[in-house]
Amino acid sequence: MIRFSTAGESHGEALIALVSGFPAGVPVDLDFVNRELWRRQQGYGRGGRMKIETDKAHVLSGVRHGKTIGSPIAIEIINRDWKNWEEKLPVEAGDPAKHQVVASPRPGHADLAGALKYNFPDARYVLERASARETTARVAAGGFAKLYLRALGIEVLSHVIRVGRAELCRAAAWEEIAAVAAKDEVVLGCVDPDTEDRMKEEVEEAARTGDTVNGVFEVVVHNVPAGLGTYANWDERLDGLLAWAVMSLQAVKAVEIGRGVTAAESFGSQVHDPIQYAAGDVGKPTRFTRPHNNAGGLEGGVSNGEDIVVRGYLKPISTLRKPLESVRFDTREPTSASYERSDICVVPAGGVAAEAMVALTVANVVQQKFGGDSLLELKRNFDGYIEQIRRY
Ligand SMILES: Cc1cc2nc3c(=O)[nH]c(=O)nc-3n(C[C@H](O)[C@H](O)[C@H](O)COP(=O)(O)O)c2cc1C
Repeated sequence: MIRFSTAGESHGEALIALVSGFPAGVPVDLDFVNRELWRRQQGYGRGGRMKIETDKAHVLSGVRHGKTIGSPIAIEIINRDWKNWEEKLPVEAGDPAKHQVVASPRPGHADLAGALKYNFPDARYVLERASARETTARVAAGGFAKLYLRALGIEVLSHVIRVGRAELCRAAAWEEIAAVAAKDEVVLGCVDPDTEDRMKEEVEEAARTGDTVNGVFEVVVHNVPAGLGTYANWDERLDGLLAWAVMSLQAVKAVEIGRGVTAAESFGSQVHDPIQYAAGDVGKPTRFTRPHNNAGGLEGGVSNGEDIVVRGYLKPISTLRKPLESVRFDTREPTSASYERSDICVVPAGGVAAEAMVALTVANVVQQKFGGDSLLELKRNFDGYIEQIRRY
């Protein structure tokens, strides 16, 4: 079983990802993992924090001589901002006069619920862990999951389909998504330049008015074989596992598989993807084809051989430069919500974090189906299954 957990505070010394269950022998390309971390930091409308940080994965264990060795993989990402926070957020008691409290909870953030839950006098510790800075560790772990999947020819990428009112009104081809992900300058991660310009205007309007802006990203898993997941048990359905994984990301408030939302408003004949049969090329995982992919590659909670498509709907960021009404933790008097340096739009970064969650979920399902303690063993099982499907 491929599992991962993260640790670290937003302004602490470092973030940590611990990944276990990887087979031995997976080639590790640290430049690739670092590029994933870089991609998470990009996007028009990010706050000042991303200018301070240059995230790099420092691997502490589980990788030797460029390959995984089957032991838990520990990854550390240093927070460069820590030097500005050592006295404000020390591990030891420190000088209380130098601590920086979050005096009034921000509506939409975890501040109030977290302070009540953990009996904190203010929301500093809540902010530190609820912050989506944590997604840095997820992206590092997800980078490893992508390397694992890449060894089997499976790829995971995302693109942005809506920012505010600006929406991409057509499907994107895999090649277009790959081209956007390969760019060295990220604006809003949209495959269509005109739509991206309109998205940029949405961010600019929010910046002008002290507001924040929402959006939708789409994650695509490409070249995935049919048969991952199962309809046999509710908690092993791949659609459910993916929805959980993406919904667990900060600010994601809805998850859609394929065209799930429009499907709920349409007749069956307009929604379902007819099944056709075409002679499969050698190496292709299936010979059954579909003229379109409204199901997002999943039927009955099982991958059907089409690209898996998962959309995440992000609410607008809750830290506002023009803050909403709140209450002081200490006096209970009305005041404005706290403001701390913040992003205005995070839709492309949310997409990169969701790629990581999807890659980790798919890698885990692949590992459970094909098993293996080494990449050699895994690939033998995987290739045998692909051949079985090809001959079906
Ligand atoms: C990549 C990314 C960056 C984020 N950056 C910020 C930020 O700068 N300020 C903020 O208030 N919220 C930010 N968020 C959202 C909050 O972390 C999130 O709204 C908060 O933790 C409460 O969780 P919930 O929205 O899931 O209920 C970000 C989310 C993501 C995915």
